[in-house]
Amino acid sequence: MRPWGFLARDLPDPAAGRLNAEFFFGPREPKRPFEIEIGSGKGTFLVQEAAARREVDFLGIEYAGEFFRYAADRMRRHNLSNVRMLYANASEFVTHWLDDATTSVVHLYFSDPWPKARHHKRRVLQLEALSQFHRVLTVGGELRLVTDHPQLWEWYESLVMRVSDLFERLPFEPPSSAAQGEVVGTNFERKYRQEGRPFHSMTLVKKT
Ligand SMILES: C[S@@+](CC[C@H](N)C(=O)[O-])C[C@H]1O[C@@H](n2cnc3c(N)ncnc32)[C@H](O)[C@@H]1O
Repeated sequence: MRPWGFLARDLPDPAAGRLNAEFFFGPREPKRPFEIEIGSGKGTFLVQEAAARREVDFLGIEYAGEFFRYAADRMRRHNLSNVRMLYANASEFVTHWLDDATTSVVHLYFSDPWPKARHHKRRVLQLEALSQFHRVLTVGGELRLVTDHPQLWEWYESLVMRVSDLFERLPFEPPSSAAQGEVVGTNFERKYRQEGRPFHSMTLVKKT
């Protein structure tokens, strides 16, 4: 699987210092953009977007082993030198490993909604997560959010109102790799579009 796949258990002790894109890609031009996708699933967004924007390095983070292996193998088959996959809990990776001001975009698409109230703490987007995303983003960096789920969207809206000092909210612009009429073009978007579900989206731009 290597060099496409990295495992959480191979990450260095966080006490030894935080990580940036070089850990995954080796020596690189420091100004080269680095974007992460949380919950990449089968890697459809990454395979499209990394091919469309070769000037950017992408890290997909996925904690379901089957999807991680599938996505990493897909990046290998497409020979995408600007993508790596990490098998880890993305919330833990961002909080404990990722260094400040290293990441130009955080992509979070069709995140698991965890609809039961007692499971809301499992949702990726939390107040603390927003403060961590703010920390790891570069100046003008973006958090990009898309969901089909009405209750998860309400959750997003209520959290975002509480961090207006950290982020400016803007409309979501489809990425260059999205097909005509798509919001972002992930696997779940395509599946849910066939079911006629409406989508919600926003971009949060880091305020300094
Ligand atoms: C509903 S799927 C969406 C997949 C893809 N983003 C799409 O739109 O097609 C959500 C994915 O996020 C992964 N996931 C959820 N929470 C995660 C976390 N904290 N860290 C890493 N992966 C996570 C799940 O395993 C699942 O593959």
